[in-house]
Amino acid sequence: MPDEKSLHMTPEEFRRHGHTVVDWIADYYARIESLPVLSQAKPGQIRGSLPPEPPESGESFDTILHDVEKLILPGITHWQSPNFFAFFPGNASGPAILGDLLSSGLGVQGMLWVTSPACTELETHVLDWLVKMLDLPQQFLSSSTGGGVIQDTASSASLCALLAARERATNFVSNQRGCDGKLVAYTSAQAHSSIEKDVQIAGLGRENLRMIAVDKNFAMRSDVLARQIDQDREAGLVPCFVCATVGTTSSNAIDPVPEIGRICREQKLWLHVDAAMSGTARLCPEFRHIHQGLEYADSYCFNPHKWMFTNFDCDCFYVADRKALIQTLSVLPEYLRNQATESGAVIDYRDWQIPLGRRFRSLKLWFVIRHYGVEGLRYHVRRHVELAQQFADWVRKDDRFELAARVPLNLVCFRHKGGDEVNQRLMERLNASGDLYLTHTRLDDRLTLRLCVGQTNTMARHVERAWKRIREEAEQEK
Ligand SMILES: Cc1ncc(COP(=O)(O)O)c(C=O)c1O
Repeated sequence: MPDEKSLHMTPEEFRRHGHTVVDWIADYYARIESLPVLSQAKPGQIRGSLPPEPPESGESFDTILHDVEKLILPGITHWQSPNFFAFFPGNASGPAILGDLLSSGLGVQGMLWVTSPACTELETHVLDWLVKMLDLPQQFLSSSTGGGVIQDTASSASLCALLAARERATNFVSNQRGCDGKLVAYTSAQAHSSIEKDVQIAGLGRENLRMIAVDKNFAMRSDVLARQIDQDREAGLVPCFVCATVGTTSSNAIDPVPEIGRICREQKLWLHVDAAMSGTARLCPEFRHIHQGLEYADSYCFNPHKWMFTNFDCDCFYVADRKALIQTLSVLPEYLRNQATESGAVIDYRDWQIPLGRRFRSLKLWFVIRHYGVEGLRYHVRRHVELAQQFADWVRKDDRFELAARVPLNLVCFRHKGGDEVNQRLMERLNASGDLYLTHTRLDDRLTLRLCVGQTNTMARHVERAWKRIREEAEQEK
């Protein structure tokens, strides 16, 4: 038989192009500070520069990579720039990128233990490590009643928690018959919008989500929560789920989890704690006080893809009782049956998440933890917090500015005293300059600037320059 034709990259070609791509990424990091942080592209500009038709025959890899530089890079907002202070970080690091590359190279799909035992077992192991690293409650360990799983995002983790809460509250009947409009969920008025979306998706209905009022520090008022639960019960409704936030997106407010937890315990409600960004701070013993009350939580999540140097996507989701989650999400068709599953001796993570398929995400997390070590991770987290606290001090000392909220960790909410329009102009000019990128929120109905220190490579000089640029722009407002 003649040799069969193949258009695939040979291992040798892959090696050569792979080295070029790694070099490209290394060079990108070396020059990243020279690029405007916020992409300056106009709507439609990137698509307009792409050929309208796909190529009929394959193109050379060099041409493709050249187009990344020419056509794609102008449309990139540089999340990995040390001058990125917007939203919450979505940080990456060398070990995480390489772990992700290896995961792509292996190309495994770990829906079942049997489809790659290492994919499941490394995940279980690393998530158990994290229980120790973050000093999480023992019930989150896989050797206990619960366990951890990697989800794509905090939004998905909260959805899984809500679904399990829904099923637990209805004795698993709503999976069979759907919701009857009586289940009620609670979160604070400052919670992330993903909770609202989750409530819609889970079929509780948007009207059955109570946005509990917050106190002057933007944290959930547990007295209002308790009253609302009572009122709902009196009205014949069925309270089932509370989401508390440790580190809200707007202002990094910390809900009083111990008080909320006690209410949930008494009332038999599922408590989910969303610590998407701030959970990473638990690595440091001195920041654990803001996470008190986790022993009451039925579930908990935090995102290493925000602040633990692990590139998107990677959310660690823990439950105290894995049976409730698995019973909620498990459906077993014939084609997925296998001996290992039937033996009951293995974890099949497909039953812990919404999709069936799953990537080998624990590899990048494992690389990160091993590269930095726990002390290394703590060092960088502490450094970010110190830099944010330093920035907050500068704001306090400048008559033109004020802090808009407490600064428990690495997010500083502040504003120019000149009012909304001045703050809007400041932000627009700063972001248009490309020198840094920061975003805003509204607190006490006033436009508030947010500066979050969490990008992997942000150091003192970047925060100093950000403050210098902010003051320069404030000068223009005189
Ligand atoms: C507190 C909180 N929860 C949830 C989310 C949503 O995160 P994800 O993109 O992982 O769904 C965010 C995002 O910033 C957040 O700050």
